[in-house]
Amino acid sequence: MLDKLIIEFDKGVRTLFAPAHSRRAHPDEHLPDAELTDAEKRHALGLMRVNHCGEICAQALYQGQALTARDQDARDALRHAAVEEEEHLAWTERRIRELGGHPSLFNPLWYTGSLAIGVAAGLLGDKWNLGFLEETEHQVGAHLDSHLKELPADDAKSRAIVEQMRDDEAEHAKMAHQYGAAPLPSPVKGLMRLTSKIMTTTSYRL
Ligand SMILES: [Fe+2]
Ligand SMILES: [Fe+2]
Repeated sequence: MLDKLIIEFDKGVRTLFAPAHSRRAHPDEHLPDAELTDAEKRHALGLMRVNHCGEICAQALYQGQALTARDQDARDALRHAAVEEEEHLAWTERRIRELGGHPSLFNPLWYTGSLAIGVAAGLLGDKWNLGFLEETEHQVGAHLDSHLKELPADDAKSRAIVEQMRDDEAEHAKMAHQYGAAPLPSPVKGLMRLTSKIMTTTSYRL
């Protein structure tokens, strides 16, 4: 267990402080950067920072789960999804820099909280662990949909990233379901939405 914890701690430090890598080409790779007004740029930056923070949390959740998941097949599937989450991290990170900003200063805080939640969900057993994951992916997907409505129409680069992420998250939700995710009680879903509301409000600004 101590070995595992050290490995996860190391992963955490890298997630927070080292640049993430993407095996797939960035979805906005061949798209031109549009001329945006200062206000549009600021808004796109805020939204992409929220998405980046969400991906930091996803890393922590998956890590927490990997520590506690019991079923080998489920663990392998989760690992595959975790690789895609790291790609999301790389895409949003680069876009934030292109828009002239920096990732949220609160990332270490949200990372730690998400890791704790991931471990706690994992300790409840695989079906709750996966249930939590499925619900997270649904909520993130809904969030990304709302960002597609809010992002400047001309910002094709940010939009391409968010669209691909949304498609990936839908696949992750499906995967969690296939491996036996239990439906979460409504109050838990509500609490998750409230937490994400706080996260999105703070990381949009700073
Ligand atoms: Fe993601
Ligand atoms: Fe995901």
